[in-house]
Parts: sequence; C-alpha cells; structure tokens
Amino acid sequence: KNIVILISGRGSNMQAIVEATPPGARIAAVISNRPDAAGLAWAAARGIATVALDHKAYPSREAFDAALAEAVDGFTPDLVVLAGFMRILTAGFTRRYEGRMLNIHPSLLPAFTGLHTHARAIEAGCKVAGCTVHFVTAELDHGPIVAQGVVPVHDADTPDTLAARVLQVEHQLYPAAVRWFVEGSLVIEDGRVRHRGVA
Ligand code: GRF
Repeated sequence: KNIVILISGRGSNMQAIVEATPPGARIAAVISNRPDAAGLAWAAARGIATVALDHKAYPSREAFDAALAEAVDGFTPDLVVLAGFMRILTAGFTRRYEGRMLNIHPSLLPAFTGLHTHARAIEAGCKVAGCTVHFVTAELDHGPIVAQGVVPVHDADTPDTLAARVLQVEHQLYPAAVRWFVEGSLVIEDGRVRHRGVA
C-alpha cells in the first residue's frame, strides 16, 4: 500500500509514521506546502521522495488543490495522511480521497476544532485533553473518528506543556491508526468507524 504524507512544518508525526511503517506499506512521498518545512529535509535524508508545492504560488485554493492532487496522484496513494498539514482543503480535494485520507487533530473532537486547541482546553477548565485521528471530510476537523488519545490537564499547564504531553500520545496513536487502515481493519458505517473484528 502506498502512503503519501502531507506536512507543513516540523513533521514529528510524519517521522513517527515513517519509523513505524507497517508491513505491506511504503511511504511513497512526503509533500509540503511550505518549501522550508523541516520535515521535508528529514524525509529526503532518508531517501523518501519529497515534493514542495508552495501554496503562495497559486492564485486560488482551487488552483493549489488541483496541483496538490496531481502531485499526490503521481504516487498512486492508497492512503493520504495529513500530518500537521496547515491548509484548509477544498471540498473537491476531500471528496477525491474520501475514505482514504486521515488527519490528526490535537483535541478530543468534537470539542475544539480549529486552532489554539490547548489554550482553549485550559481556558475552559478541562481536566483531560488529547488528540483525535479521523477520516477527512469537507467540514474542517469533522469526519469519522478512528481513534482518540487522552492525557490529564494539570493545574500548572501552559498551552506548551499540554501540547508536549498530547504530542507524545499523537506519536503513538497516529502510527497505530495508519497500521489499522493498511491492515484493512477500519470500516466506515453510517458515518462512524467500526474496527473490523472488534465487537
Ligand atoms: C500536531 O500537534 C498535530 O496534531 C497538529 O499539528 C501538529 C503537527 O506537528 N495538526 P508535527 O508537524 O507532526 O510535528
């Protein structure tokens, strides 16, 4: 199975997935909308095909997404993985990869879609926080939930300390979700994910 990973920056989730590439899968490419993304250099140094597509070079979201789809499709992906990919995608793009595109979001969805999730969780007085892997649909940070990881929120937490605790869980959860997809154990039914073979 060919996996294409889309990033915008550091790429620590991408690294975790590359290092835990499941049997039967290969990381076909890492693509970034930011040419200076640190994750691109990391992937290239490991012999992974990399593509930088600078969104600023395109006149519209549609034009960028068309170029992005062409680049992604060039690697004939079975799975597209958004790993800190910080661009909103058009409905056309999300439809094209429906049921085969995953995202990780640093909150316990459906709470705290969008940005600044950790600051908002602290502000709201939440006692737990976490991360969610979900299939991507047209609506931002919605879509069938594959898995969630939970961490405590401590009284002394700042957005940064909470983010670091959640990120450790992300690095466990996302590779596991990718493995389940590759193994064919995720079934979407009525907008919800069922794990095949689990009652
Ligand atoms: C992660 O916290 C992810 O949940 C969010 O953006 C961050 C990306 O970090 N969508 P990295 O680039 O994977 O290190």
